[in-house]
Amino acid sequence: MLKKIALIGGGNIGGVLVHEIFQRKLARTVALVDVKGPDVAKGKCLDIAEATPIINSDVLFEAGKDYDVIKDADMVINTAGVPRTVRPDGTFPSREELLAVNLQITDKVAGAIKQFCPDAIVISIANPLDAIVYRLYQKLNPPKHKLMGMAGALDSARYRYFVANAAGVSVDNVEAMVLGGHGDDMVPIRSCCRIAGMPVEKFVDDKTLSAIEARTRKAGGEIVGLIGVSAFWSPAIAAIEMAEAIIYDKKKIIPSCVLLEGEYGVKGLFVGVPVVLGKHGIEKIIEMELTEAEKAAFAKSIEAVKKTTDEVIATK
Ligand code: LAC
Repeated sequence: MLKKIALIGGGNIGGVLVHEIFQRKLARTVALVDVKGPDVAKGKCLDIAEATPIINSDVLFEAGKDYDVIKDADMVINTAGVPRTVRPDGTFPSREELLAVNLQITDKVAGAIKQFCPDAIVISIANPLDAIVYRLYQKLNPPKHKLMGMAGALDSARYRYFVANAAGVSVDNVEAMVLGGHGDDMVPIRSCCRIAGMPVEKFVDDKTLSAIEARTRKAGGEIVGLIGVSAFWSPAIAAIEMAEAIIYDKKKIIPSCVLLEGEYGVKGLFVGVPVVLGKHGIEKIIEMELTEAEKAAFAKSIEAVKKTTDEVIATK
């Protein structure tokens, strides 16, 4: 159990995170900050706190509109930003189109982390994911192992879910990873997709797998189209998977958005690759073998990440 986890952003993902942290007793104190009024953070936490006697969870809550509630947190999960929302004409923006508005919010978030909990391990979820993590890196300049983005955990879970359904087996049996940026060019890695240790192709034919991989790349948009706003349940649970790996020092391999400094031939970008997560945060970056087709798809995804990151650099 950590002393304190701070959640920045009290929207849909923030609400699920508070709930999961108190259910799982991951921290003695959960702090939630949201600038929206009258006082969304305080209201959400009070609502959840009033249920603690029923489930015997003694988590303490600190919530409010001012960033000082995050003071001395050991871990920060950042969700602050505008989500994708369906427009009246039924269309919705790409994650990248949220950049300008979410950068402004991220600059405030970074200032608060720097002021109130500069030593915290930071997991960021706000979109466009890879670019927002890059901005946090620019502003915080943290040790490399302490800053990461949550995307691969979610994208891989989606891939595993679709594969399990197609194969007619339990999700427990499906192992898979999605790498690259958290955009429509993300890369489901078929060559490492296994069902109970066996190659996925033994259970699912090529055409179905290609359709699943295309669906995985657009899975975030599929949810936006259905509920009118970005997914929140699965992104929150995916961030919790990362937080638990760190809190319990699991040394769990989870694809995460991390700073590459030459690995995979990439320098100076935050990109999703498999890493070992333990008590220090990112403890190791794992370089895996990719097929030629996967390498080409990864390179294309890197181009997309670079384009958005260049926009971030241009606004500094
Ligand atoms: C998604 C958003 C949260 O993929 O990026 O659902």
